[in-house]
Amino acid sequence: MAKEPLLAVEGLNVGYAGSAALNDVSLAVQAEELICVIGANGAGKTSLIRTIAGIVCPTRGRIAWRGRDIVGMSPWEICELGIAQVAEGREVFPNLSVEDNLLIGGSLKRARGRRDANLRRVYELFPRLDERRRQSAGTLSGGEQQMLAIGRAMMSEPEMIMFDEPSIGLSPALTTVMFDVVKKLHSHRITILLVEQNVASSLAIGDRGYVLENGSIVLEGTGAGLLSNQDVRRAYLGL
Ligand SMILES: Nc1ncnc2c1ncn2[C@@H]1O[C@H](COP(=O)(O)OP(=O)(O)O)[C@@H](O)[C@H]1O
Ligand SMILES: [Mg+2]
Repeated sequence: MAKEPLLAVEGLNVGYAGSAALNDVSLAVQAEELICVIGANGAGKTSLIRTIAGIVCPTRGRIAWRGRDIVGMSPWEICELGIAQVAEGREVFPNLSVEDNLLIGGSLKRARGRRDANLRRVYELFPRLDERRRQSAGTLSGGEQQMLAIGRAMMSEPEMIMFDEPSIGLSPALTTVMFDVVKKLHSHRITILLVEQNVASSLAIGDRGYVLENGSIVLEGTGAGLLSNQDVRRAYLGL
């Protein structure tokens, strides 16, 4: 019998004021997998993450975490289950210091008791944040804000982190750093759901992937399999 997935999305529909953003989307994430969802601008990637995070309410379908239905739970309750997200555009609190941003992530019940140890762990992973603990987050560079958003997610000791286009707006060099960070978190046995337009870099590190087009999953496979798929190469890699 197949293992029960950590996260199962089944027949998910999401719409905004009548227009559909996701249509009958199903996917499964096993514990400790790194799963990519690739798709162009407007495909529905952010809607998928925001729906799993409890920010957007689906019109149909089921989202199960360890077999338990989580549709209707608040974003906060979903974070307490161990599902963290690093949002598109980072969404750090610009007027708070770096450290205060991190402490907000560490205020969840699941990780509150180990806050200081987790803070040390984040500063070890991102020494640049350590150097800038007292600086207000709004004055950080784009790459540093991305690190802060990841650090804040890590403060809650998540089992799964959802990344919404972590490479967007970053230089090629910083993009490489960012994918290395995602790989590193995965090597620490954190389950990853990565949505990206950067198809080549994300499929290269993904165990498996799904291709999202106009709100529907049109293809799925291993990272390597999708990377060598003719349709994917033609549509997303210009090959
Ligand atoms: N808050 C919103 N209100 C209305 N339409 C939205 C909203 N958010 C997204 N959409 C629409 O839903 C579709 C999917 O958007 P989104 O999930 O942001 O895609 P992606 O992240 O892949 O670019 C797009 O057509 C977009 O215009
Ligand atoms: Mg998006």
